[in-house]
Amino acid sequence: MNKLIDLRSDTVTKPTPAMREAMAHAEVGDDVYGEDPTVNKLEETAAEIMGKEAAVFVPTGTMGNLVSILSHCQRGQEVLLGDKSHVFFYERGNAAVVGGLPYHPLPNDRFGMLDPQEVINAVRGTDIHQPPTGLLCLENTHNRCGGTVLSVSQLETLCQIAHTRGLPVHLDGARIFNAALYLNCKVSEIAAEVDSVQFCLSKGLGAPVGSLVVGRQAFIGRVRANRKMVGGSMRQAGVLAAAGLIALADMPLRLYEDHLNAQYLAENLNLIPGVEVDMATVQTNIVMADLDPAGPVAAHWSAQLKKVGVLVNAMGLYRLRFVTHYDVSRAEIETTLKAMAHLE
Ligand SMILES: Cc1ncc(COP(=O)(O)O)c(C=O)c1O
Repeated sequence: MNKLIDLRSDTVTKPTPAMREAMAHAEVGDDVYGEDPTVNKLEETAAEIMGKEAAVFVPTGTMGNLVSILSHCQRGQEVLLGDKSHVFFYERGNAAVVGGLPYHPLPNDRFGMLDPQEVINAVRGTDIHQPPTGLLCLENTHNRCGGTVLSVSQLETLCQIAHTRGLPVHLDGARIFNAALYLNCKVSEIAAEVDSVQFCLSKGLGAPVGSLVVGRQAFIGRVRANRKMVGGSMRQAGVLAAAGLIALADMPLRLYEDHLNAQYLAENLNLIPGVEVDMATVQTNIVMADLDPAGPVAAHWSAQLKKVGVLVNAMGLYRLRFVTHYDVSRAEIETTLKAMAHLE
């Protein structure tokens, strides 16, 4: 069989030759002693790009979100977040389990936005029966909503609500570079009003491993301690950070190819009978395709596609998710469309 066309996620990207080269020659040291020069450089670069005081390198986005939430809240406080957010949906309830921080989910609209009034109503008062509110957690781009983007002004609105009530805001910006491309702005503009951001190197940016948390110096000190607590402090992590530096330098520039491929895929999926894509939600590199419930379920479609070498994830009974990335070419998108059109 030819090379598999893997549209399950942008996490499947393999390191580029330049990344492998940089990894092989990375200068390293013990990062728990703060002595890995390549990790230090990655953290400084990340903080600068995001316009924040400091950064810390973590193994995964999940851990980045966890240590951020732990570092903002006191045990027993409640975390406000979207009911379709990655933190709520896909991270094993870790802040509740590890930190004693219950979640208070609020409805995400189809673009991943929270209703400002719902946020206002959700903030707890002084009733001793209720857990005090500790944090507002947002996501941009929004994975489960199909890679949709919150604008800077939407973020400002939600941050202002939180801040005037004394609450910090954490942004799960796993794909913040995709959001910045869509908004035609700098990532630092998206990060400006939030107190912390977690962003991933190992998704569209193509690095093999790693995320960064950015925020104020004192906050990052707490994140470093919590990273140690959950076992995420690494030693000669410079071999990973070296790939991360290439990811930050080179890869944001090519994300537009993924966005164009997603647009093309979505438009043409819409021409296939029994398949429907809400084009308004196709903003970055994720395409959610809804299937006619009179036909086979999504798991059947993904199993059939797998037989012809195309991998996609079922995201519910009648929904398929396609994610474009730098290991998928336009020609492979064409092949995928042909395969979809001929499925039984
Ligand atoms: C929005 C979002 N946040 C966080 C994560 C978690 O990242 P990781 O898989 O590195 O733990 C993901 C992963 O897909 C994600 O899509």
